Amino acid sequence: MNYELLNIEQQEGILTVTINRETALNALNAQTLKELQFFFEQDAPQRMDYKGIILTGAGEKAFVAGADIKEFLGLDGTQGEALARHGQSVFFSIERLAKPVIAVVNGYALGGGCELCMACHLRIATQNAAFGQPEVNLGIIPGYGGTQRLVQYIGKSKALELMMTGDMLPAEEAQRLGLVNYVLPTKAEAIEKATALLHKIGTKAPLAIANVIQSVNAYFDAHVDGFEAEVKNFGTVTDTNDFQEGATAFVEKRKPQFKGK
Ligand code: CAA
Repeated sequence: MNYELLNIEQQEGILTVTINRETALNALNAQTLKELQFFFEQDAPQRMDYKGIILTGAGEKAFVAGADIKEFLGLDGTQGEALARHGQSVFFSIERLAKPVIAVVNGYALGGGCELCMACHLRIATQNAAFGQPEVNLGIIPGYGGTQRLVQYIGKSKALELMMTGDMLPAEEAQRLGLVNYVLPTKAEAIEKATALLHKIGTKAPLAIANVIQSVNAYFDAHVDGFEAEVKNFGTVTDTNDFQEGATAFVEKRKPQFKGK
């Protein structure tokens, strides 16, 4: 795919994906969602040569200010349902990616933007970041997983308050509530922190990382017994060469050389 609204760069094994619609505060229009879908469903799973992904928005003001409201005019119920189903499936592909995805939230993360960062595995915010699900202001509800994931991160009580008032959560408070892993003064520092985390995770066994992600996701999947998923995934990683290498390296008091096999 020829990406028009995503800027994708690879440096030292880290892919940085920037949503590039700064004049619309990086709002997710159909084309952006299509490119995110292609990237996370087809492009990223096929690339082998990277440790993880940083997802961010262009500029200093917004990560993503939501779904593109201008494209919502005239939607009917059937189209609304299809739009939500499609957005959710794109965001599931982020959450289920076998490599770590860190959102660097550089400003507003509202509506679909808050939902997008919540589908990532970790969130690092700049001090000016603000999180919210203000859909009720438009007469709708969150549709890209917000009613589910916000509850998972901050609990039912605060999530309901945010979704019913449309209020924004400042970065420091989002961190206190567990939505955000770290808050840094600037975007450059947030990217630096995300990069350091991905390099650190990149020193671990890749299949162990993939199975941690899958097992933790199982906790939130009503159709899956999470403990059983953990048992199966433990079996899977026990069968890997990397497990032999990791355990042997410990005994031999040296650093393991993981191969992802
Ligand atoms: N969709 C489309 N355009 C958007 C947008 C959005 N979600 N958010 C901002 N923009 C555009 C504005 O229309 C404006 O464009 P123009 O210059 O062409 O008018 C430009 O971005 C700059 O925005 P503002 O002038 O509004 O900037 P501000 O600093 O005054 O306010 C803001 C910033 C508080 C984020 C405000 O833009 C805002 O409230 N945006 C909408 C937030 C929102 O409601 N998000 C939820 C969308 S619905 C959704 O996401 C549903 C879902 O779950 C799938």
